[in-house]
Amino acid sequence: MALLEPFGAELNLHTGVMESSKQLIHRRLSDMRGMYVNEAAETELQSAENPMIYEVYASEVPEETGQVLYCTTIIHPGRVGDEYFMTKGHFHSLRDRGEIYLGLSGKGYLLLQTEEGEPRAVPMHPGTAAYVPPFWAHRTANVGDEPFVFFAAWPGDSGHDYGTIEKIGFPQLLVSRGGQPVLVDNPRFSGVSG
Ligand code: F6R
Ligand code: ZN
Repeated sequence: MALLEPFGAELNLHTGVMESSKQLIHRRLSDMRGMYVNEAAETELQSAENPMIYEVYASEVPEETGQVLYCTTIIHPGRVGDEYFMTKGHFHSLRDRGEIYLGLSGKGYLLLQTEEGEPRAVPMHPGTAAYVPPFWAHRTANVGDEPFVFFAAWPGDSGHDYGTIEKIGFPQLLVSRGGQPVLVDNPRFSGVSG
C-alpha cells in the first residue's frame, strides 16, 4: 500500500459541497430507471424535467484495504408519485464491511435490509450518527423540503453491489401520506429468491 500524504479537505457543513473533490457524481431520474414504484409518475416526471435526484462529492482516497473512503451526499427534495427522492442503494460487494453516516442538514431516512429482506429504517437529521452494520444494504431518502445532506465513511475495500438492489428492490417504500413520511410494504419486492 502506498504511503499517502495526510491532508485536510474543507466541506461545507450545510450544503455538503466539498470544494477539493474532483469526483462529483450526479444522478438524475433517468439514471435510476425502474427504481420508483409508480412507473407512470416516473415516466411523466422524466420527460417533463428529468430532475437531479442526488449528488455525491467523493474523496480521492484509493479504494484499497486499510484506507477509509468518505463522501458527502446531497439528496434534493421531491417525490416521484408519493415516493420521496432517494439514492439507488447498494450492498457492499464485501458484505462484511460497515459504514457510518452523519446527518449534516435537512431531514431524511436511512433504509436498510438484510440479505434475507429484513427491513429497518433510521430517521436522520443534523447530528444523527447512523450506523450501517456489516451485511445490511442501505439507501437514503429526503423527507423534507430542503436538501438532505450527510457525510459517509466506509472501508476502502468495500466495493458497491448495485445489481442486487436493481433486481430485488427494497422491502419497504418511504411515501408521503398527508405530508408525513410513512413506510409501506413494496408491492413489487421480490426478495432474495424472487
Ligand atoms: C458508500 C455509501 C454512500 C453512497 C451515496 C450514494 O458506500 O453508502 O456514500 O454511495 O450516498 O448512494 P448510492 O451509492 O446508493 O448511489
Ligand atoms: Zn455504502
